[in-house]
Amino acid sequence: MQQTTIPFTRKDFGEDFLWGVTISAFQNEGACDHEGKGPSIWDTFTRRKGKIKDRSHAQTACDFYNRYTQDILLAKMLGFTVFRFSIAWSRIIPNGTGAVNQAGIDYYHRIIDACLELGLEPYVTLYHWDLPQALENKGGWCHRGVVFAFEEFTRICTRAFGNKVKHWIVLNEPFGFTALGYMLGVHAPGKFGLSYFLPAVHHAVLAQAESGRVIRDEVAGAVIGTALSCSQIIPFTNNENDMRAARRADALFNRLFLEPALGMGYPANDFPLLKRIERRYALWRDWDKLPFDFDFIGVQNYFPLVVKHNAFMPVVNISEVKAKSRNVPVTALGWEINGNGLYEILKQFAAYPAIRKLIVTEGGAAFPDLRAENGAIADHDRIAYYQEYLSAVLRAKSAGVPVDGYFAWTLTDNFEWAEGYRARFGLVHVNFETQQRTIKDSGYWFRKLLLEE
Ligand code: NOJ
Repeated sequence: MQQTTIPFTRKDFGEDFLWGVTISAFQNEGACDHEGKGPSIWDTFTRRKGKIKDRSHAQTACDFYNRYTQDILLAKMLGFTVFRFSIAWSRIIPNGTGAVNQAGIDYYHRIIDACLELGLEPYVTLYHWDLPQALENKGGWCHRGVVFAFEEFTRICTRAFGNKVKHWIVLNEPFGFTALGYMLGVHAPGKFGLSYFLPAVHHAVLAQAESGRVIRDEVAGAVIGTALSCSQIIPFTNNENDMRAARRADALFNRLFLEPALGMGYPANDFPLLKRIERRYALWRDWDKLPFDFDFIGVQNYFPLVVKHNAFMPVVNISEVKAKSRNVPVTALGWEINGNGLYEILKQFAAYPAIRKLIVTEGGAAFPDLRAENGAIADHDRIAYYQEYLSAVLRAKSAGVPVDGYFAWTLTDNFEWAEGYRARFGLVHVNFETQQRTIKDSGYWFRKLLLEE
């Protein structure tokens, strides 16, 4: 590996700073129908024509189901001390509610034990987008029943694993799965339109808090968070229309799932469309049920967003000024590389008095990762990315932001949803034909930072 000087040391982040790596069940496990697992909405969606760009599916993915021992060992070898993974709901409860699949419980016990044996702290995500198909058949996130089903799932998981797992993340990027899956139709279950999106948002906000309460009841000493996608929003110009569009975008992208959880209600003043949720659920008297006292908020920031007013854009009246047209550095997915965006959003979140602690629960980038002649994957663009984003975290810490950890996305290349396998985010390269793993230079870079300094 080419030697690079790292502009900071592990010590700069403090003794207690958490260094983790994140994966998710659907993107990594494969074994889509093994040992009693029921189908999820992503199993169904990947079978639909034209939905996944490279026409792939995730029936095997990176075969984490069978290779977890090796992969968890890799996380350890790279110097991480936290391993964040998600539980596939339909592996535990194949029909979403009702009968429990003991083989699924046993499987996650093996994962947890493998982490604990290596001294890796498991951070368990309860929902990383793979809703049981049986629940989608009843309306999925648009149907209120999903909230009770999620509570039941939370109770089963916490009762099964709560003596070993203390760190829980309730939802992963609720804005991601509701907007992409129920508004734009580009992710599972492929629904589109406000009549799906708004109920899905409300039920996810409700489920987020109810599940938090179940964990609090069931697990003594639990540390509970939820993981939110977020982006610094930059108005394209400072004319009033663009500034207003930026406020709407901020309400939608950054505040929609956070503020109700903090007891502030929906940010409907800056995005009046949300008043429709308030009207629709007024009779249910849900408002007191939306807040939950999270121990930490997971920050998942990949890029800043530059937005402008667009009167022709339905519903939101916002359009994004794409990074490509602005001549800024981008990743393989065209996402702007800009560590300052992370700094700004950390500061923005830290300004809420009700937030106690932040953890960057995902951060990473997709690059082409071509193999050099000597077999190495010299992904220096990814190393530069992590240097820039971690420097931003350090800067935020010095500015007083309570950010206590950074989890890389992701350990191995995996199934990047509608992008398929083309977008490689891993610190470890996967040959999907042979399942062979090769540590990339970025993986060695983390190892040097975390173990050698
Ligand atoms: C967000 C999601 O949580 C994760 O599943 C996804 O692969 C990464 N970000 C990269 O897009």
